[in-house]
Amino acid sequence: MSSTTSIHGMWSSRLAFILAATGSAVGLGNIWRFPYTAGEFGGGAFVLVYLLCVAAIGIPIMMAEIMLGRRGRQSPINTMCTLAKREGATPAWQLLGWVGILAGFLILSFYSVIAGWTLAYVVQAGSGDFSGINADASAAFFGDLVGDPARLLTWHTLFMIMTVLVVARGVASGLEKAVQFLMPALFLLLLIMVIYAWQAGDFGAAWVYMFQPDFAKLEAHAGEAMLSAMGQAFFSLSLGMGAIMIYGSYLSSQASIGRNVVIIAGMDTLVALLAGMAIFPIVFANGLEPGSGPGLIFQTLPIAFGQMPGGSLFGTLFFVLLVFAAWTSGISLLEPMVAWLVESREFGRPLAAILAGIAVWLLGIACLLSLNLWSEFTVWGMGILDLFDYITANVLLPLGGVAIALFAGWVMHRQSSEQEFNLKPGSPFYLLWRLLIRYLAPISVILVFLDAVGFLDIIIEWI
Ligand code: PFF
Repeated sequence: MSSTTSIHGMWSSRLAFILAATGSAVGLGNIWRFPYTAGEFGGGAFVLVYLLCVAAIGIPIMMAEIMLGRRGRQSPINTMCTLAKREGATPAWQLLGWVGILAGFLILSFYSVIAGWTLAYVVQAGSGDFSGINADASAAFFGDLVGDPARLLTWHTLFMIMTVLVVARGVASGLEKAVQFLMPALFLLLLIMVIYAWQAGDFGAAWVYMFQPDFAKLEAHAGEAMLSAMGQAFFSLSLGMGAIMIYGSYLSSQASIGRNVVIIAGMDTLVALLAGMAIFPIVFANGLEPGSGPGLIFQTLPIAFGQMPGGSLFGTLFFVLLVFAAWTSGISLLEPMVAWLVESREFGRPLAAILAGIAVWLLGIACLLSLNLWSEFTVWGMGILDLFDYITANVLLPLGGVAIALFAGWVMHRQSSEQEFNLKPGSPFYLLWRLLIRYLAPISVILVFLDAVGFLDIIIEWI
């Protein structure tokens, strides 16, 4: 018999769940990571592969993750352990929860540093520092920030405190209300930015760049590009580490999972595309380099705010909203480990949140130092921050996703998943999901992995 509620609280409504899960999905991944990663891989072809990954891999895995969470009603580690036993499988499936905790830990440590950049930019935009700024000055501005460990530490610390405060109170209480106004406001502001970029930037060039796939641009590093597009889909949809699973564990048993997932993934994708349409026109109009890396939006947007009427106000508002978007994602990154500490170590929620927060904060210091004092220290040509970003998005999250797909599609009995989806036996939606989760999603992820390490080429040649 499965429980119908979680000890950590429940969302007050279906809308609350949609808002919280969208809050987790929409964040720096859409507005900071998507444009610069698309830029690094030359635009359109990457965007197309990304969209395919969202539809064919992301959506079915998100449905599976929510379904597992709701059936287990505990932290991902304990959920996987309980469900595995119930389905007659080995409790070693809880490893999935542990890898998820590790991924969440690594992601939040660098995520908080980037969210710190956003906080710093709120203050800069508010004090009118961007007015009339050109591309060189904007780049210098960004360079000053990332070169200054003390400033980075201050903002990283503030972001971690904000995140711990909410998680300590319980996500179901504070988060719902915040996201309710945040999401529409962020949407509106992004639209304003797109309209501005359309008027003042090179919209035509940006459109061609993003939506006319030029596969020749991928040829040189197709494997790497596909891996990055898939990693971006996992990262942006918050999949593969238990964040969406735990949010699913607070969802009422009556809600329809399929419909909710389509809404959440749709909004997440829309925000990413809007961010691209706001940024690339400005990039092209100012002769900037779309593939310039993680500083892209932080060097581009100030130029737009510096030129547009009312730019200080818009700029401040924009970065405030981006902080909120990052905050609601950061909360979901911390929640799985805190829930586990509460369940299994019997800590009170505030203590659990503080301890987990301190651990992440410490690791975040290594990330921020990798931008300046420790920049010489690299692994595979990447500093610590870039390394954590690469390993989590491109390896750990997709691996977690495959494990979720295999468990939901092969280990779990058909009656169990059918019952959890509240669908009639033989429903076409269920059959489609089952096909995707058993075959298409895991096989695609594995092929992309094999392709990225060059294994596929060897096999093809051999055949
Ligand atoms: N989806 C978030 C973003 O796009 O910013 C980041 C994220 C949150 C990744 C939660 C993974 C996760 F589990």
